[in-house]
Amino acid sequence: MNSTIETILNHRSIRSFEEKPLEKETIHTLIEAAQQASTSSYMMAYSIIGITDRKKKEQLHEVSGHPHVLNNGHLFIICADYHRMTYGVSEEAKEDMKANLENSEHLMTAAIDGALAAQNLAIAAESMGLGMCYLGSLRNDISKVDEILNLPEYVSPLFGIAVGVPAENPEKKPRLPQKAVYFENEYQDHEEVIRAFNDKISDYYASRSSNRRTDTWSDQMLRRFRKPIRMDVTEYLHKKGFNKR
Ligand SMILES: Cc1cc2nc3c(=O)[nH]c(=O)nc-3n(C[C@H](O)[C@H](O)[C@H](O)COP(=O)(O)O)c2cc1C
Repeated sequence: MNSTIETILNHRSIRSFEEKPLEKETIHTLIEAAQQASTSSYMMAYSIIGITDRKKKEQLHEVSGHPHVLNNGHLFIICADYHRMTYGVSEEAKEDMKANLENSEHLMTAAIDGALAAQNLAIAAESMGLGMCYLGSLRNDISKVDEILNLPEYVSPLFGIAVGVPAENPEKKPRLPQKAVYFENEYQDHEEVIRAFNDKISDYYASRSSNRRTDTWSDQMLRRFRKPIRMDVTEYLHKKGFNKR
């Protein structure tokens, strides 16, 4: 196994970091790695905002509720971004661009571009012995995050990434069996595979070193989908010019 695969297969989210800010050079390398990810039609439809202002970090922590938003080596926020596409463009041309800027396809491409860049950043960080955790919880109040970051039209926060020197070493979290995520030629029913996975995951939750509980993956998903969450995101995206048609 080569060292890249080893790094990828060794991933676990890190939520506790030592009090060591990332060096400027490290941040530069991580952004360089992020930027080298493939990007739909060369659009590079994302921005990455690093938070160095303690007050802003505190405000973002308040939105997320997760301590690793406050305590980390560096906090990155990945945003979907088409704002720069409108630089130097006449009002008339901007009007012509609107159908594309506002459709679901382009929200998808920006989210994909942002996620690919982020995952490059994540793997680069992990390859340096750093730990990381994604932060979708910043969308608990997406409008507040927009305000904190002073985001213009056609820019929306997607998620954060906390990076730093790990202060914990959690177990790897089991993934779905390949039979549940990889099919050949057409979609395959895999209810039996999920049932077996639930047995495995309940053993994992009952025996792991911290936060032990009785749970299965399907129960977790039922809880997650039964309770409406972040129902304000659609309206927010429309306001920013995204996903309107
Ligand atoms: C887009 C995205 C958003 C996430 N948001 C959070 C978050 O807000 N807080 C958190 O502690 N973990 C967050 N996670 C981490 C997941 O909970 C974690 O990746 C998953 O449970 C699998 O665990 P592992 O990464 O340790 O293997 C997020 C992951 C992704 C991909």
